[in-house]
Amino acid sequence: MEIRENYSLKKLNTFGIDAFAQYFVEASTLSELQELLSEPKFKSIPKLILGGGSNILFTKNFEGLVIKNNLSGINPIKEDEKYFYVKAQAGEVWHHFVLHCIANNYAGVENLSLIPGNVGASPMQNIGAYGVEIKDVFYELEALNTSTNAIEVFSHADCKFGYRESVFKRELKNKYIILSVTFKLNKKATFNTSYGAIEKELEAMKVTEVGIAAISKAVCNIRNSKLPNPKEIGNAGSFFKNPEVTASQYIALKEKHPELVAYVLENSNYKLAAGWLIEQCGWKGKTIGEAGVHKNQALVLVNYANAKGNEIYSLSQQILDSVKEKFGVDLEREVNII
Ligand code: FAD
Ligand code: EPU
Repeated sequence: MEIRENYSLKKLNTFGIDAFAQYFVEASTLSELQELLSEPKFKSIPKLILGGGSNILFTKNFEGLVIKNNLSGINPIKEDEKYFYVKAQAGEVWHHFVLHCIANNYAGVENLSLIPGNVGASPMQNIGAYGVEIKDVFYELEALNTSTNAIEVFSHADCKFGYRESVFKRELKNKYIILSVTFKLNKKATFNTSYGAIEKELEAMKVTEVGIAAISKAVCNIRNSKLPNPKEIGNAGSFFKNPEVTASQYIALKEKHPELVAYVLENSNYKLAAGWLIEQCGWKGKTIGEAGVHKNQALVLVNYANAKGNEIYSLSQQILDSVKEKFGVDLEREVNII
């Protein structure tokens, strides 16, 4: 393992922010990770685990050790009447894992096609798209406790999944390195095409027999048409979460703003489309210096060239303030801020 000092992370985060790590290392095995954690030099300094860097905004350099987790491998571990249990190591690219599942007819992750990043970060914020979240297919994960250097197993309940939430984003933040995730994938697929856009895309693709490969392709087409490619424009996907409000807040807002875009939830609350709120505040397509709000998706903040992380952060604060002022709604950042 080569330990680098004062190492640029520009190519390792999809915002393309030129932040530096005091120490940087890539680890490809469990024993390398354990060796790093027990190294006296690194014991008491902050640590940051990096996957694909697609949900992170560096507003400053990282004074500590950045560990890029490159553990690889995808293996079926058992099966029962209904499910295949498939264990993927944290450093596997998420979309490669999805493609592996489709090739082997393991159903359940096709709607999550093309989400950037690695398997290890997928439980972190319970990644979701097009009506599915990883909590729907999650079985368990293994993680290394950074204080004790011991491997612990987390069940579904232990992870406390919520909308873009888990215990690893809250009380256990930076306390564990996720090593592997085991998914419970369906032998018999139930297709989730409830998002209208998927149905429409399948029709446009002239698909006569729906299958997991066709759904995956449809999702990829929709995503490619809507979201900026980080290889072309720096971004980290949705910068904010879609906020949840009570039914009475929703009714009051809808009266004032009949065009409000919202979805009712199982608990009778409403989820508002943050992209709509931000667009109504006039932010869509705006740029401040080299930071901006994407022209097609107001929920996505972008780095057009060499914006600094704190410029993007300050733009996000202005957006938060204006949505609060116009609608009385608090937005919450989805991206991990360093
Ligand atoms: P990173 O950005 O590297 O890390 C994210 C956080 O997880 C950090 O706090 C990091 O310290 C921690 N972490 C990473 N790996 C580990 C590990 N092994 N152990 C412990 N902690 C770890 N997300 C969605 O949910 N749905 C979407 O539809 C979606 N679309 C996106 C579209 C675009 C264009 C982009 C750029 C991003 C999108 N995202 C989406 C966000 C992002 O893809 C996900 O959050 C993804 O899971 C991040 O993975 P990563 O490996 O890049 O994580
Ligand atoms: N909208 C606008 N203006 C905009 C953007 C959106 O009015 O500029 C309205 C439109 O009415 C649109 C609605 O908002 O129909 C919803 O937009 P979209 O379908 O693009 O989805 P989203 O709510 O903006 C969420 C996730 C995405 C996920 C998609 C598909 C969050 C924070 N974002 O976006 O996840 O891919 O749904 O399921 O929940 C991510 O987390 O990084 C991410 C990209």
